[in-house]
Amino acid sequence: MKEQLSSLKKEFEAQLKHVSSLLQLEALEQTIFGRKAGAFTTLAKQMKDVATEQKKAIGEMMNTVRLKIVKELEEKREALQREEMKKIAETESIDVTEPHLPKEAHGHMHPMSQVEIELSELFRSMGFMVLDGPELESDYFNFEALNIPPSHPARDSHDTFFIKDHPEWVMRTHTSPVQVRLMENNKPPIRALMPGKVYRNEAISAKSYCLFHQVEGLYVDEDVTFAELKGTLVVFLKQFFGEDVKYRFRPSFFPFTEPSAEVDVWWQPKGKEGRWLEILGCGMVDPNVLENVKIDNEKYVGYAFGMGVERIAMLKYGIGDIRVFFDNDKRFLKQF
Ligand code: DAH
Repeated sequence: MKEQLSSLKKEFEAQLKHVSSLLQLEALEQTIFGRKAGAFTTLAKQMKDVATEQKKAIGEMMNTVRLKIVKELEEKREALQREEMKKIAETESIDVTEPHLPKEAHGHMHPMSQVEIELSELFRSMGFMVLDGPELESDYFNFEALNIPPSHPARDSHDTFFIKDHPEWVMRTHTSPVQVRLMENNKPPIRALMPGKVYRNEAISAKSYCLFHQVEGLYVDEDVTFAELKGTLVVFLKQFFGEDVKYRFRPSFFPFTEPSAEVDVWWQPKGKEGRWLEILGCGMVDPNVLENVKIDNEKYVGYAFGMGVERIAMLKYGIGDIRVFFDNDKRFLKQF
């Protein structure tokens, strides 16, 4: 019995050396402690045949051998588990240099909205209120009241979108009709900024799009002067483009202002020849327009201006193609 026990132990230890997986370990454990045919189980069953005087000694030996084997099995199991974890760590490890991708990508305002808000804030700080008007306009507000009668050549330059079966309606070609609506419903002094979308049936190119944004300005009071108009626009130019912006006022013509001017800003693309870019039209509100809205043109004068928002955004951010504002390409949009 004693010899059987010690050879069992030796045999077990020899086999344990070759065990290299948890599965093999389990199999070995079965050959020793398996309920039916385990070597140790079989020996233990023979205990009842051992002579009484030897029972105590053999019993003790059986116990020590059993504990020893159990202990070695346990140690091997732990070692194998550690090895397994190490393997997992090596093959399924996390690369901490991988770029972090946020779970939710946060959106933000379109650059056009951002510029519109910036302009609104800027003019609000100079006492202008901010309001808007309809995009679907009547011919009267878009043209007629602004001193552009049906036969006026200025209509040609507006490339108007007309509404099918409704000859009296148009998609507004500029934000100037909001001036008219405002003056019809309010008494001077009136000082307002009117941002919004405008529509023109122009060929789409790097320079023009069938839809764009304008910001209209209007100030009507008893003694408004061209010098004030100029002063206000210069404050805008310097705050928006920076103190050293290069600009010029140039005489021009609009049916709804007299005298009229246009403002150009110097555009200097990197490595290319610079040139003047027109960004806005302005002037003193034509007395005919004041008459149309029933404001006493003997007592009141006003100035007005209108600018293209895409134009000034392109200048400010050095963008060469207006179409990028409408493509909604995230690679462009996320730069703002
Ligand atoms: N409405 C003009 C346009 O779309 C721009 C403009 C010029 C607006 C002169 C004005 C102004 O208020 O005084 O081309």
